[in-house]
Amino acid sequence: MKDLLTALPSVESVRSQNDLTGRIALITGGGSGLGRAMAWGLACHGANIVIVDRDITAAETCAREISAGCGTRTLAVRADVNIEEDVESATKQVLEGLGPVDILVNNAGHNIRKPLIDYTLAEFDSLHEVHVRGTFLFCRAVGRSMKERQRGVIINIASVLGHVAAQNVAPYAAAKAAIVQLTRVLALELAPHGIRVNAIAPGYIDTPLTRQHAPEVRDRITQTTPLGRFGQARELIGPIVFLASDASSFVTGSSLIVDGGWTAQ
Ligand SMILES: NC(=O)c1ccc[n+]([C@@H]2O[C@H](COP(=O)([O-])OP(=O)(O)OC[C@H]3O[C@@H](n4cnc5c(N)ncnc54)[C@H](O)[C@@H]3O)[C@@H](O)[C@H]2O)c1
Repeated sequence: MKDLLTALPSVESVRSQNDLTGRIALITGGGSGLGRAMAWGLACHGANIVIVDRDITAAETCAREISAGCGTRTLAVRADVNIEEDVESATKQVLEGLGPVDILVNNAGHNIRKPLIDYTLAEFDSLHEVHVRGTFLFCRAVGRSMKERQRGVIINIASVLGHVAAQNVAPYAAAKAAIVQLTRVLALELAPHGIRVNAIAPGYIDTPLTRQHAPEVRDRITQTTPLGRFGQARELIGPIVFLASDASSFVTGSSLIVDGGWTAQ
């Protein structure tokens, strides 16, 4: 038997580490911004893609783009991630239409920026519902079949604001911190079943979400980001493919920060 300490993996196995051919990836909020780019990136590496979004037109457009550009199978499903019946029915639809999910990306979300005293309870609830409840519901629904099959990868889209503080985002930051901790707990619970659970914590990325920021907020972000700019959605492709593929086979319970150096200061 070869000594594992000195034996190197074959060239072919190293080169194919990012290969996702035939795997099924479900991306929530995949109709726009980061979700759309990450879905495209996973498909470029061979994954069949399910776009789940409450905006079915956006989901269908994205699914068509991927089928045409990457040639992999796609499915667009309308669901609101914070509604239990929607999540259960979407999961069933995917199982019947494409098969069991290998890669789950919990990405759907939104943000509201304002000082604490101006928040309504409905705004607070909407942020916690989409981020925490939505992530929990999809992890539970898809986690069942992953547990049965003793394999799977879950990636939750958190935020740098789940790790460090900033003003005017209290409910959003608290919800993202909850996602980071949910990720750690599920990583422990699901590791014995061959399921890895990680988070990506993006910094400021140029998407329809951050285009809503006031010009002075965008300027401040640019000035305080060491790389001197907003990130682009396509810069999430490398991180998502890494975490979704065998390239990260010993990584679980982690949070990968993708922020142009913003939290390094
Ligand atoms: N853009 C950034 O700078 C940034 C930074 C950190 C984290 N994030 C996170 O990344 C994720 C994606 O953000 P984005 O910038 O791509 O935003 P986006 O607005 O471009 O896209 C969000 C998508 O989620 C969908 N969605 C929203 N609520 C939903 C719900 N309840 N059910 C189903 N679909 C729903 C929307 O229809 C949309 O397609 C969010 O969780 C966000 O908090 C973004």
